[in-house]
Amino acid sequence: MQTNAIVIDKYGDSGEFSEKIVDIPELKPKQLLIKVSSSSVTPFDIGVRKGNFKDDFSLSMPAITGTDVAGEVVDKGNEVNKFEIGDIVCGMVGVKGFGAYSDYAILGQSKAVKVPKDVDVKYAGILPMIATPAYNALFDLGKLVSGEKILIHGGAGGVGSMAIQLAKNAGATVYTTASKRNFEDLKNLGASEVLDYHNDKFNKVLSDMDAVIDTVGHDTYKDSFEVLKSGGRLVSLVEEPNEELAKRFNVSAMYLGGKFDNPLGKVIGLVSEGKIKLNIQKSFPLTADGVRDAQDYYETNHVFGKVSLAK
Ligand SMILES: NC(=O)c1ccc[n+]([C@@H]2O[C@H](COP(=O)([O-])OP(=O)(O)OC[C@H]3O[C@@H](n4cnc5c(N)ncnc54)[C@H](OP(=O)(O)O)[C@@H]3O)[C@@H](O)[C@H]2O)c1
Repeated sequence: MQTNAIVIDKYGDSGEFSEKIVDIPELKPKQLLIKVSSSSVTPFDIGVRKGNFKDDFSLSMPAITGTDVAGEVVDKGNEVNKFEIGDIVCGMVGVKGFGAYSDYAILGQSKAVKVPKDVDVKYAGILPMIATPAYNALFDLGKLVSGEKILIHGGAGGVGSMAIQLAKNAGATVYTTASKRNFEDLKNLGASEVLDYHNDKFNKVLSDMDAVIDTVGHDTYKDSFEVLKSGGRLVSLVEEPNEELAKRFNVSAMYLGGKFDNPLGKVIGLVSEGKIKLNIQKSFPLTADGVRDAQDYYETNHVFGKVSLAK
């Protein structure tokens, strides 16, 4: 079987995207073939296209990128036991996989969850790459529990806006950093206090935090040690642990990595119950021009929430 896919033939700028008819590889026993309805722009996919990770893993060209996927199961490997043909699912395509920027994508069954009927498939397509890291950082690594105080940096971003809601829903008091124009929206998502990262020095205002989630890095990461109480936890999505600072402030520092149970089912359940709100700032068609325009838009605008790609 063949598909029309949006490929890059080499690493480079967003002009590298073009459409090609390619063969769909045979499914492995635990894989699903998905007729793609929607996907999203992620900083990771942009980095992959630019070749920022080529020393860590190399793509065989032409490569089909796109990590977030939502759509219908149209075929399945012979060991798939959790999904049926016709199910609507979402999940994260593996980094060297047959990506979501295509008419058909290949998704491992362990990475997939069913999309409840009351969740729009377009919204399901922006969920995996924000829900998974946010949940893993807060609960699997950050061990956040009800009654604690947490600072979440980058609150208006995809991961930050998800983390605020998950933390609030778990009974934590949430502080966040963002640009002023997003303050009201972030309070509506559950933040008790929002600090303007352009003007406020959060480490001069906040203290005694049980946990910090850092999605920004650099000075924001380093200054975060100061606001933690002794024994607190700092989970960064972007910085390797600074053991010297961790020791000095008597806190634990962790980088988001490792394998955890797939939390997508729990999060999409909260979306279905109306406890988590998803924001799509702008949507583009899932074509080569659409992916180029969507990635350029993301890089040149301060997006609140996510940029979507949809059929
Ligand atoms: N390790 C992992 O597994 C993993 C997984 C997912 C994501 N990540 C990484 O996590 C980061 C965030 O991802 P995302 O999808 O949420 O990105 P995003 O949607 O682009 O959000 C980034 C947010 O950070 C804000 N920001 C920029 N500088 C800031 C500062 N100094 N203080 C506070 N906020 C600031 C931006 O606000 P303005 O627009 O107002 O400037 C924006 O809202 C990315 O670097 C991504 O690659 C890592």
